[in-house]
Amino acid sequence: MCGIVGYVGYRPAADFLLKGLRRLEYRGYDSAGLATLDDAGRLTIVKCAGRIDALAARLRQTPAPGRTGIGHTRWATHGPATDQNAHPHLGGNQQVAIVHNGVIDNYRHVRERLEMQGYRFVSATDSEAIAHAIAAQLEQAAEGVASGWAADAALENLPVELRPLAAAVRGALARLHGTYGLAILFREYPQVLMAARLGSPLVVGVARGEHFLASDANSLAGHADKIVYLADRELAVLTPDSLHVLHPERGLVARGPQQLTVTAEDVELGPYSHYMLKEIFEQPETLQNTMRGRLSREEASAHFGGLNLSPRQLRRVERFVLTGCGTSWHAALVGEYVIEELARIPVEVEYASELRYRNPPLHNNTLVFAITQSGETADTLAALREMKRQGHPTLAICNVVGSSIAQEADGGIYMHAGPEIGVASTKAFTSQCLALVMLGLYFGRLRHLSHAQGMRIIEHLLGLPDQVRRALETDVQVRQIAAKYQHCANFLYLGRQYNFPTALEGALKLKEISYVHAQGYPAAEMKHGPIALVDEQTPSVFLVPQGQVFDKVLANMEEIKARGGPVIAVTCEQGNRAADLADDVIVIPSVEDYLQPIVSVVPLQLLAYHIAVLRGCDVDKPRNLAKSVTVE
Ligand code: M6R
Repeated sequence: MCGIVGYVGYRPAADFLLKGLRRLEYRGYDSAGLATLDDAGRLTIVKCAGRIDALAARLRQTPAPGRTGIGHTRWATHGPATDQNAHPHLGGNQQVAIVHNGVIDNYRHVRERLEMQGYRFVSATDSEAIAHAIAAQLEQAAEGVASGWAADAALENLPVELRPLAAAVRGALARLHGTYGLAILFREYPQVLMAARLGSPLVVGVARGEHFLASDANSLAGHADKIVYLADRELAVLTPDSLHVLHPERGLVARGPQQLTVTAEDVELGPYSHYMLKEIFEQPETLQNTMRGRLSREEASAHFGGLNLSPRQLRRVERFVLTGCGTSWHAALVGEYVIEELARIPVEVEYASELRYRNPPLHNNTLVFAITQSGETADTLAALREMKRQGHPTLAICNVVGSSIAQEADGGIYMHAGPEIGVASTKAFTSQCLALVMLGLYFGRLRHLSHAQGMRIIEHLLGLPDQVRRALETDVQVRQIAAKYQHCANFLYLGRQYNFPTALEGALKLKEISYVHAQGYPAAEMKHGPIALVDEQTPSVFLVPQGQVFDKVLANMEEIKARGGPVIAVTCEQGNRAADLADDVIVIPSVEDYLQPIVSVVPLQLLAYHIAVLRGCDVDKPRNLAKSVTVE
């Protein structure tokens, strides 16, 4: 949930570190810092609580010279957001500086042991223990105490002078339990940067005479166009001209760089005031990208390059488990409706945080899908591993290429939605839903859907980007509705069938970015409890497009109106009766039931956005949150 950057090369390191941190700020933003090393081995640390702007201001007073450096933007886990707890942390006699993502579970024990050996801790973080543990290994090696790693054959691939450094890092990591993405500087080696990962992503950017490091490839766009993803347990040793990747069992890892497809433009704000708004408006294109090359008129079906299972294996699937967190879990709920309807295969949806500790009796032919934008969510990764351990085939619907979940799943579907930077997930949700509709089509066509039925679905899918474009035209009107209701303290979001998950998603969007309490509910369920909340100050947002439950939802609207609650109806052109009942109406295009969540969520995203802006909230960096939740 934090962001890491690193640089070793021929340019002033602080320039890239600061730019990289700005790009990573969405991953954690309660404090930030950097460390640089100049050629004479002088270490400069600048860090403070607050945003990157605060760090930039500090750097104007205390420049950080040097051509090697590491940087960090933090989302606090151990210890509050203070200058002291901000990264980098120093180890031993300041001979080591580290930045860390992840959590060290046994840090108390390690800290106590190191304190007994005389190491002095100055922060409340778990991360500082890593810095001292590495320093302790270096000091022991200097005193001739064997770490056990010195004889490691893999280290022989390194230049002689770097072997003790790598041995010290690995010796220290062997004593730590938990997860880490780690960047390390050694004061006596100003041209060396080391990185290690276990359960927290790291990617190296490769350019002539320089190497970059980041926890997220997006921050490398415009700096390096060749990248190397590190895998778990790998240690990377970077100098301006060399990159060695070592694995404890596999030795020297030969991994050629791949092309970075993200451009600087993809990660810039452009004419928009917030990333969230940019990403909402990108949806017609991102949906197009999710579908591109995956629909076949000839077969009247969808096809996916990366499922890594044969049609024969896929035909044997008797049950799906869809798992994820937050918005991705809402997409999974949409998937339950659509796969059961189109493919007639039973689907179970599980919160990943529950699934990882549950022991559900699962049928042999169960296919598990982890749904995740970032591919790094700790609970989703753990649930995937648990399902894999039980022997189920695991696939991912994932946006971030090369992410941990994408690497660990047996196969999957990339969403191709492009970088999602706003903490509130928007375009990822619609692409996830679309991928699930295409899966429903694919599995339906393997079973009972006729060619003609398949073709009809394809035609509807191809029309979807235009329908979403039309839904975006409600923006001005939605802003007016937002202005009318911005002061309300509670909202209800109500929908049925396919629009029940949409209601949950609309409520989540409002909660997370505007801090207004909102509850999503199946519309008919509200009379079993939540209707007690209804009064003149509590608007109900009803999702009432045309479809099989239109009249039923109208009846639920009547129940709210009868109790004096204001009603905002999201309906389609033919929904006159809904419009007559409602206080405010948002008209969206009419689409098939299974595509409704993708279209009807658009005005809900806009409503949340405008209410948050009107209330003066920091839309892209809501309080207490971070973009990808890499802790349990
Ligand atoms: O990256 P993931 O899709 O795995 O993330 C899951 C949730 O953390 C995420 O959807 C979160 O709920 C968003 N902030 C919602 O807008």
